[in-house]
Parts: sequence; C-alpha cells; structure tokens
Amino acid sequence: MRIKTAAQYEEWYKNAKENPEDFWGEMAQNFSWRRRWEKVQEGDFNSLDIKWFQAGQLNITENCLDRHLKDKADQVAVIFEANDPNEPARNITYKELFEKVCKMANVLKNHGVQKGDRVCLYMGMIPELLISVLACARIGAVHSVVFGGFSNQSLAMRINDCGAKLLITCDGSPRGKKQVLLKDIADSALKDCPNVENVLVFKRIEIEVAMKEGRDHWANPLIDEASSECAPEIMDAEDPLFILYSSGSTGKPKGLMHTCGGYMVWAGFTFNNVFQMEKDDIFWCTADIGWITGHSYIAYGPLLNGATQVMFEGIPTYPDPGRFWKVIDKYKVTHFYTAPTAIRHLEGFGLEYVNKRDLSSLKVLGSVGEPINEEAWNWYSKHIGNGKCPIVDTWWQTETGGIMISALAGVTKDKATYTTKPLPGVIMSLVDHEGKELEGENEGNLCIKKPWPGIARTIWGNPERYKETYFSTYPGLYFTGDGAKRDSEGNFRITGRVDDLINVSGHLLGTAEIEDALNQHKEVVESAVVGYPHNIKGSGIYAYVILDQNQEHENPEDLNKELSNMVGTILGPICKPDKIQIVPALPKTRSGKIMRRILRKVASNKFDDLGDTSTLLNPEVVDELIKHKI
Ligand code: WT7
Repeated sequence: MRIKTAAQYEEWYKNAKENPEDFWGEMAQNFSWRRRWEKVQEGDFNSLDIKWFQAGQLNITENCLDRHLKDKADQVAVIFEANDPNEPARNITYKELFEKVCKMANVLKNHGVQKGDRVCLYMGMIPELLISVLACARIGAVHSVVFGGFSNQSLAMRINDCGAKLLITCDGSPRGKKQVLLKDIADSALKDCPNVENVLVFKRIEIEVAMKEGRDHWANPLIDEASSECAPEIMDAEDPLFILYSSGSTGKPKGLMHTCGGYMVWAGFTFNNVFQMEKDDIFWCTADIGWITGHSYIAYGPLLNGATQVMFEGIPTYPDPGRFWKVIDKYKVTHFYTAPTAIRHLEGFGLEYVNKRDLSSLKVLGSVGEPINEEAWNWYSKHIGNGKCPIVDTWWQTETGGIMISALAGVTKDKATYTTKPLPGVIMSLVDHEGKELEGENEGNLCIKKPWPGIARTIWGNPERYKETYFSTYPGLYFTGDGAKRDSEGNFRITGRVDDLINVSGHLLGTAEIEDALNQHKEVVESAVVGYPHNIKGSGIYAYVILDQNQEHENPEDLNKELSNMVGTILGPICKPDKIQIVPALPKTRSGKIMRRILRKVASNKFDDLGDTSTLLNPEVVDELIKHKI
C-alpha cells in the first residue's frame, strides 16, 4: 500500500493530520506484530513522554527477514561491492541473510549479550556490519554503530556513554588505497572502557592484530559454528532499538535513542513512499551505516520492503572518480541515493567518467544530508539522470529517524534546490525569532508541531538535554536547528543550520567539539571554530586560535599541521579544520561572549557585512582578523 498519485498524497496528508490515530494504525498493519498495540500515539511536545503503538509487540528483524522467506527466500537482498573493483561481488539472498543474522545472534548470546544490553559496532561497510546490526535487533540488544572514520577517543566516549559491554569490530577496513586499522584503534579506545567484556573481531584485510586473551575472539569461525536457529526476542514497541550519536552544541555528542515500533513503521513507510521501488528494481544508498542515512536506508528501510540493494565498501574516487557510475552500470542500479558533496566532487572531474558508462537503468535519483545547490542539482539531473529521473531531495535528521520532507519519486513534483513537501504525518511550521508562526511564502526557523512515529525518544542517559536541545527554544515545538524558506505552493527550501553546528560533507559537526580538541594543545589558550562556504564540502571548518604568549612557538606552518593532526587524532579525520588562523584575540562582547557572527562573516570573506561592531569589548581586533585572513 503506497501513495500513487499527487491527489492521493494530498488525501493521505490530510488524513494523517486530521486522524493520526486511524492513519498510523492502518499504516502499522503493513508490518507483522506479535501483539497489536492498544493506543496508536500518546504524549506531546510539552510532556515529552512520546509513545507510539503502546503495548504492541514485535521484532523488527521478523519484518526485515522472516516475513520475506515465504516468497523472497532466493531473492538477493544485498549485493556487496568491495573497495577493490576486482574483488568478486557477494550476492546474499534473503534466506542467507536470515541464516547469517540468526547465527550471529547466537554468537552474541553465547558471549553473554541479553535483551537491553548495549553493543557497539566499529566496522567498515561489509555485509557483516549489516548482519551484526540485525543480530543485535534479533535478540533485543541495543546497537550503537560508530562510524569507522572516528578516532579512538570518539569511540571510547561513545562506548562508555551508552555502557556497551561488547564491541564488534574488524581487523581493518580498506578505504581506497589506504587501510583503516580498526582493531588497533579499538584497542587504544578499550584502554579507557573497563566495562567491555568481549570483543568480536571480523577478518577483512588479513593483517596481524593483537588479540587479548579472554576478551577478543575471531568472529568468522564463531559464526560458522553457531546454530542458524534463533527465535526473535519479542520487544515492546517502545523498547530501545538503537542509539546513534550525533554532534551537539557542547563538546559531547548526543546519543539519540530510537525505539522498535515507531522507527520500524517510519523507516518502512518512508522508504516505500519516497523511492517507489518496483519489482526487480535495484536500490543503492552510498552512505555508511555509521550515519543515520545508512541505518534507515541500508539496514532497515530496504529490507522492511523486501528490496534488493547494493552495499558499497569503498569511496567514490577509487580506483578513479568513475567508480559510482561503473557500479551503477555493473548492477543496473535503478534508484541511486547519495549526498550533494559527492555529486559536486565528482562533477569536478568532468563528464569523461560519466560518459564511459551506461546509466540508462536509472529511474530515480536521491539527495540527502545537506542543501543541494542549483548547479549540482542540474548536473545530477542532466548528466546522471539523463533528464528523465525525478530527484528526491530528502530532508531529515538523525533525530527524525527517517525522511520528513521530500518529493515522492514520480508521484509529486520535484523542484531544484527545494526539498519540497512534508510527508504525511509531518506537520512543519516556520517561525520567527519569537516563535510566532509564519504563514504562506516566508522564511524562518524550521519547527515541527506534532510527534511522528520515527522521532528519537530521548538522548541516552540525558533526558534534560533532549528537552533543552529540541523543545526549549520554542515551547511546544520541536526545533530542527535549520532555517528554511517556503514558496507559495508550500515547498520548503533548507537554507542551513542556524545553530553552532556545521554541516561538512553532509555530516553535522559541533564547533564546540573541535574547539575542545584544539584547546588540548599545550600552546593553545583559546579557540573559536566556525563554518564557511566550501565548494565541495558545503561548509568548511575555519578555526581561529589564540596561542599562549608565554611560550616559544614553532614555525606557523608546522604548528598548523600539528593542530590539524591533533584534531584528527582526537575526533577523527573528518573533523580536521580546513583553515587555521592564529589570532591575537577574539572579538568579544562586554560580557565575554565570543561574537561568532563576526567570525563567520570574516571566514566567509563578507568583510562589508559585519554589522555593528561598536558594542564589542575589543573592536580593533576585527581589522586584525581581516588583515591576516587565510
Ligand atoms: C541536518 C541533519 C538526513 C540524514 C543525514 C544527516 C541537513 C539533511 C538535508 C537536505 C538540506 C539537509 C540539515 C539537518 N540536511 N538533509 N535534503 N537538504 N539540508 O543527518 O547528521 O542528523 O544532519 O542535515 O541541516 O538538520 P544529521
């Protein structure tokens, strides 16, 4: 059951708004439940005790796997394309995936993992990551996937914050020409994680790694030996399914917690309606399962809908910048979902790589993670979609669990640079600074008025921060942190973050986290980090750094490199500043607050548009910043 026409979209949108109980009760029936819910939805944005499908019971893996064994057992669920283009593809059918998941679930059980325990996963993009995620869900363990590009300290922080007792990792992961030494990094992290009792290690790159007696176990032989029978743990709809960390405006990332029932309905419903896959279509989402896009549109959405998908281990530019187009051609991908940063990056290599391949299998293109500029939209549409593929520009967040605003492929109209209209059940609101709702064609801050099934229920271990971050700016509303414009037809265009987060290549990073890392350097006394427009990444990271005047400093070039590497080591390579400017002081208000608005303007070369600087404690410093701007 899905929306098939624009008129039907209007009708469903209206129904979901006016009768959410009936609407979502009906949608939830597209899934298998062990016990029917008693109440579809409870709680609101004032009380914050949001619940969906209360008293319902289910296991999401029954919906992703068991359910398809009747008629799709031999259909391929996952086509694995390795980093090395010469490595043969691995096709995994629904039946094989089901068996592997059950085996891995038994391995976890044999290592003491029980319902409600947290398990951390730190792996590359191999089928075993997907299998392990589902194995956790099978036995009711709460998974927390940590992106393989994060550092040992970032991993340790996440393991400890969620209280994981088991870690699943790999010896390493190939990334283009390089290798990420996951087990080595995990070992340094584990020095600070006393609660981790067992580590399961998959072999991927066949390198020597240290194995700690009693703690570390090779996972592959354990899976081979394990039984392929594992009854699913019956979960309450509101039991936690996973925790995924996302940067926040303090140095510490937030562990967003999603629940079994609502998340399942949301991931399944949105995938079905946005992408409109038909029988024999092939889906490919290029994200990593370490980010929410991979959770919802690799791990869960496609499987909930019994789709066939490509899972890719590598990077877009290896062995050359034609890799994406080659893979589309090779597997006749019909639905391709990627990020604007990748599109802009690959566009820069010209059409030579695109034209070498047959992309005529493509029917639908997707964009996710950041605003897509008109030029990239047009290039994507014309050269990748051959002018015939609708583009679904999907706006959503780690917190929303799944797509919130998007065109429905081929059903509702797309519009360059607009993410278009909210899905049924998503009641958006544009507000001004005071929280007054703006009507019609307008620009303001983007809020959501009503709970939807996929909303993260809390920040793990910190309900106060959940309330403070999302519900305190405009009481009664969920504040997204984004600014947006709405056209006269009700289409939304996201203008970017309005808070202290920077969207770098589709990943949100907290400026505070990067500042904390810079401040750990012995010569640094203070720092301030802002975003600036970057042709490929969307936003680049610009760091202003004040050095300790009482110390000798090495030459600026070496120091910059050292600072940048330090951020890479502490947080992970994606957090490295693009530019570092050593400054004598930062512009501050009389109360000592850093004027970030000015720092952002300077970093963006908008020197004529600095606004009033007379209220600053130290207005003279602004000229100094401009004079030595990098
Ligand atoms: C932030 C959420 C969407 C899952 C991956 C990122 C930005 C996301 C779009 C889009 C413009 C977008 C927003 C949002 N964003 N999608 N289609 N157009 N901006 O999840 O790391 O939680 O980031 O990404 O700023 O708030 P995330």
